[in-house]
Amino acid sequence: MKKIVIGLLGFGTVGSGTAAILENNRYDISTRTNADITIKKALVHDIHKPRPDCRGIILTDDPREITDDPEIDIVVEVMGGIEPARTLILTAMANGKNVVTANKDLLAQNGEELLEAAKKNGRDLYFEASVAGGIPIIAALRQSLTANRISSLLGIINGTTNYILSAMTEQGRNFADVLKEAQELGYAEADPVSDVEGLDAARKLAILSSLAFNTRVTFNDVYAEGISNVSPEDIHYADELGCVIKLLAIAKNQEEGIEVRVHPALISKKHPLANISGVYNAIYVTGDAVGETMFYGKGAGALPTGSSVVADIIQIVRNMSAGSEGLLNCGCYRNYPIISTDD
Ligand code: NAP
Ligand code: HSE
Repeated sequence: MKKIVIGLLGFGTVGSGTAAILENNRYDISTRTNADITIKKALVHDIHKPRPDCRGIILTDDPREITDDPEIDIVVEVMGGIEPARTLILTAMANGKNVVTANKDLLAQNGEELLEAAKKNGRDLYFEASVAGGIPIIAALRQSLTANRISSLLGIINGTTNYILSAMTEQGRNFADVLKEAQELGYAEADPVSDVEGLDAARKLAILSSLAFNTRVTFNDVYAEGISNVSPEDIHYADELGCVIKLLAIAKNQEEGIEVRVHPALISKKHPLANISGVYNAIYVTGDAVGETMFYGKGAGALPTGSSVVADIIQIVRNMSAGSEGLLNCGCYRNYPIISTDD
């Protein structure tokens, strides 16, 4: 069995979710990849901070311990921010490592540069976790829906703001208290202004519309307005009109050009998006061949986001061994008994 070594840049919410999934689902993952995947080291700010779930991973505050370690095959960037994340990813790829990142800030600003560097170095760069946590929307746009001319994306793509608006609407709770709770649950960004002011959703929309419309859309192209001005009175009046308020991300590919915007909107309670509650996200994608499709799931949190990170790791491991093993390049099969459904 092939041995694959991972280095984490960051060991916070998403890093620890990734480590938990790799450990808890070790057997299934190894049968699917025919590989033994282990995390060797993780970069953190503070190596002395108590971390109950270290799982034998070596902690370091020196990034070169990860990017320059010849044993590490895949670098997983889950530290966030633009720098030093950008430089570390470029260094890792130049040193022959494949990269997984959850960093939408970086992708929405420097995505093209990173993809070019991956191509130049012959490396993989995967980023499923950068948009909508555990929902496989990047893979859908890159693969399953790629035959379509996509005309629009419409959705709720920030878990923190949906958590806040849902609690204000359904339980009459106070904005500041719910934001604090979302931070404690690991949903919010390091600077929650990104969530609350619609910047995080705008970054995600830039990534999604670049993929969907096969063009370059950056964060600066997206109109962004957040939920900080949404008051309990607004929610009350929306209710009287048979509506709820949601932070919507909207991208349209029209004859005149591409329209990309994020802002609070009134939605009829009869619309399916009105019922997307709490940390859940949902995205409608409309394509000329497939028609309307909807993707739904948890948009933030350690395990849902870790699920996307680990899926990217698995895909890279499969790419690394492409052609050399496994039926359909999926590793070996488990021998489960088949339960008969006959009477
Ligand atoms: P987090 O909990 O704040 O964790 C960040 C980790 O990176 C921490 O371990 C921190 O070290 C380390 N770190 C940050 N800057 C560093 C630096 N300059 N040098 C060394 N270590 C550094 O963040 P997170 O919620 O896991 O998010 C990570 C990334 O995933 C971000 O790009 C975020 O946007 C994205 N994301 C998050 C979610 C989510 O639900 N949280 C979902 C999707 C995508 P310490 O532990 O010592 O502080
Ligand atoms: N802060 C982000 C959110 C994390 O609440 O959606 C997931 O990208």
